[in-house]
Amino acid sequence: MAMLLKIDSSPMGERSVSRKLTAEFAKTWTKAHPGGTVISRDLTTLDIPVVNGAWVAAAYMPEGARTAEQKDALAVSELLIAELQKADEYVVGVPMHNFGVPSTLKLWIDQVVRAGKTFAYSAAGRNGLLTGKKATLLIASGGVYEEGSAMEALNFVTPYLRTVFGFMGITHRLWIHGHYGRKHHCCRRDPEIDDRRS
Ligand SMILES: Cc1cc2nc3c(=O)[nH]c(=O)nc-3n(C[C@H](O)[C@H](O)[C@H](O)COP(=O)(O)O)c2cc1C
Repeated sequence: MAMLLKIDSSPMGERSVSRKLTAEFAKTWTKAHPGGTVISRDLTTLDIPVVNGAWVAAAYMPEGARTAEQKDALAVSELLIAELQKADEYVVGVPMHNFGVPSTLKLWIDQVVRAGKTFAYSAAGRNGLLTGKKATLLIASGGVYEEGSAMEALNFVTPYLRTVFGFMGITHRLWIHGHYGRKHHCCRRDPEIDDRRS
């Protein structure tokens, strides 16, 4: 049965634009996948640890040799990676904060980008391990970062997310939804994503 993982990272609750976008996406997806399951992960309600030296040591320790403390240090990472492995498709709501991703999403990224789990190095080079997965990244920003405009260079969200999701082997598409207050402007999207608001 098809499974969608819906990830939200906005702290703005019901006022959040990105949460509205992910909810709409999940609704449409559910109609298109009768019997499918949606798992929701709210990054603002999970206590995601900061990656520290103990975490790195645990991650690079062979699984069978990890101490109980090291297993504990990786518990959240294991949980979040298992969700990525289980789902077929992801939708991620991303509010632009200070030209980048919000800190909750950065914490999530640091927990899920893991050697041997979501990417690997081999003699042939580096490869992502989450192949066959598809992600839709729905970004909300106050400003409009139109392609070719002076503002474009200030958008660090899009290139960063493309790099991270691509690094894990995930096929991805992005849609950035810029708005001034309540007025909606769609400034940049991948062609395959419908713009229902412009
Ligand atoms: C802490 C914070 C930082 C923000 N930084 C930016 C920014 O750098 N550029 C921008 O265009 N909008 C910025 N905004 C506006 C948000 O991107 C915008 O309100 C967007 O709708 C946030 O998504 P959300 O509604 O899902 O929370 C910021 C908002 C907050 C709360």
